[in-house]
Amino acid sequence: MRTDSEARVPIAKTDLLPIRSGEDVVRVRQQVRARAIEIGLGLVDQTKIITAASELARNTLDYGGGGEVRIDLVEEGGRKGVRLTFEDQGPGIPDIAQALTDHYTTGGGLGLGLGGAKRLSNEFHIESTLGVGTRITIARWKSR
Ligand SMILES: Nc1ncnc2c1ncn2[C@@H]1O[C@H](COP(=O)(O)OP(=O)(O)OP(=O)(O)O)[C@@H](O)[C@H]1O
Ligand SMILES: [Mg+2]
Repeated sequence: MRTDSEARVPIAKTDLLPIRSGEDVVRVRQQVRARAIEIGLGLVDQTKIITAASELARNTLDYGGGGEVRIDLVEEGGRKGVRLTFEDQGPGIPDIAQALTDHYTTGGGLGLGLGGAKRLSNEFHIESTLGVGTRITIARWKSR
């Protein structure tokens, strides 16, 4: 078992999936669903993390020019969760607060994906550097 050095949370299992096409986005959804079921997330929590994953995978593809996601099964004090880290080497987000604002879009979308993903997650972190890329981490923990 490896340890997440940032959060010091033990990681039981990791998947690394590419996000280069619409089919990859579907595979991300499927793998997130499989891992969510594996740790016993309820249907509502499954749907939340899958929906958030779908939005972030789409953004990685559409705005980041493609990238990858790491799916970690994490465990803290006997509590289990799914943590997803989306990473791209795209243009970066110039103003993160603006990008999180509902209905803000530069791509003719609804502008609801990022804010929605944040609301659907128990943890949400964005790091983005212009000209370098974007890394977004979310997590959903099993409620007990
Ligand atoms: N990985 C990324 N790299 C660069 N810019 C991004 C990235 N993800 C999001 N953005 C920027 O943030 C904006 C808001 O993203 P958000 O997902 O909320 O809306 P959208 O993708 O435009 O529309 P929707 O997701 O509702 O279809 C995007 O329009 C884009 O400008
Ligand atoms: Mg989006």
